[in-house]
Amino acid sequence: MSAYPYNLFAPEAIQNPYPVYARMRREAPVVFDPNFHAWLLTRHEDVSHILLHAATNTVPPPLDLPPGMPEHLVQMQAEIAESMKYWLALTDPPEHTRLRRFMNKAFKPALVHAMRPRIQEICDHLIDNMRGKDEIELIGDLAFPLPAMVIADMLGFPKEDRLKLAAWADHMVDYFADYTYSQVHLIENMHRTIVEMKRAVMDLVRLRRQEPREDLISHMLTPDEAGLNINEEAMVSISILLLFAGHETSMNMIGNGVLALLHNPDQYDLLKREPGILESAVKEILRYDSPVQYTARNLSETTTIGDVTLEAGSRLFLMLGAANRDPEVFTDPDRLDLGRAVNPHLALGQGKHFCLGAPLAQLEGEIAFSTFCRRVHDVEKVTKTESWRPSPNLRGLKTLRLRYSRITD
Ligand code: HEM
Repeated sequence: MSAYPYNLFAPEAIQNPYPVYARMRREAPVVFDPNFHAWLLTRHEDVSHILLHAATNTVPPPLDLPPGMPEHLVQMQAEIAESMKYWLALTDPPEHTRLRRFMNKAFKPALVHAMRPRIQEICDHLIDNMRGKDEIELIGDLAFPLPAMVIADMLGFPKEDRLKLAAWADHMVDYFADYTYSQVHLIENMHRTIVEMKRAVMDLVRLRRQEPREDLISHMLTPDEAGLNINEEAMVSISILLLFAGHETSMNMIGNGVLALLHNPDQYDLLKREPGILESAVKEILRYDSPVQYTARNLSETTTIGDVTLEAGSRLFLMLGAANRDPEVFTDPDRLDLGRAVNPHLALGQGKHFCLGAPLAQLEGEIAFSTFCRRVHDVEKVTKTESWRPSPNLRGLKTLRLRYSRITD
């Protein structure tokens, strides 16, 4: 039997999946992948069609522990699964419709807009901390703490809890990066995180019930115009989701974006010269090296995609990162073009599960890239070869060491 030719777990594909995607789009745009046990779709048209129009259900994450794990870990894993009960990305209508309508109200643009000065302040503070160093590690010094602090603020956690929040986010990222669930400490850390977060959110809920503020917890406590409400269990579950969903993704956007700028000095210069292109620059960075490379769905009806007919129940992996480089839709797709006028990228999904945090991600990107361009000068990479996290889905650098001449105000 010949080996499956599109192995996205191979080290060279983790390093750079785009040549593999290009072959898949050309040779096998709908293909059963024995590693994922799912059908992989790589063309923009097909991915977009499924997200918008096909009858599908979301896919729960595989949480089965390897056989023989001790009972207390099985119990912990069950409690972790329970805490995901209200995660929007894992629910289907009518439950999803209800939760999403409620969260749209809580996550309203005015609330995100009001975050601008706070995000700028956090970003400036992190860049101030780089003064006097010979080199920085961009992921640890900026890309990781910025979104963690932002979402902590947005939920309404006090400043003192920021470090705790960053540690919780870290534990979640590590836990989800290891699909085998064979490392005991990762499960224990995740479980402790869930328990501590639950306690912290409940404390905050008690405070905000007495004295509401302009934060997400206060908004979640207020029924919407239609009288729609969510219970405290849902509030805890959604807060955990927001911390996770809003953290690693934005972190990878910042890391992948700075790397893309360094590899494309003409575009880096353009962004420094013309801050007016910032909005399209963030969209292009999301398209060019997407932090989320795929999302999964199960078909709920027999469906034909291209010339392949798949039965109800088939599992699909919609390869957003591949769709975002489709030459049928994007001119010169492998080129970073920060001023790209037409950019229907799928990096934030599409349809009913379209990223709830999209306006926040855009704002974080605009502030992070513009501040970095303005304040950090003559930046160079220290290590020549990148080291990527091993996940074929959450694409991000482990570290990015940089040298620079100076930091200005
Ligand atoms: C650059 C940063 C981000 C990227 C690339 C990203 C990507 C995505 C993608 C691809 C989806 C769709 C998943 C699917 O269809 O299955 C999604 C959904 C979601 N995102 Fe984001 N995201 C980012 C930032 C954020 C932020 C900052 C938040 C919140 C603080 C957030 C919260 C969510 C939530 C709650 C969902 C589920 C929505 C639903 O199912 O209705 N994301 N995101």
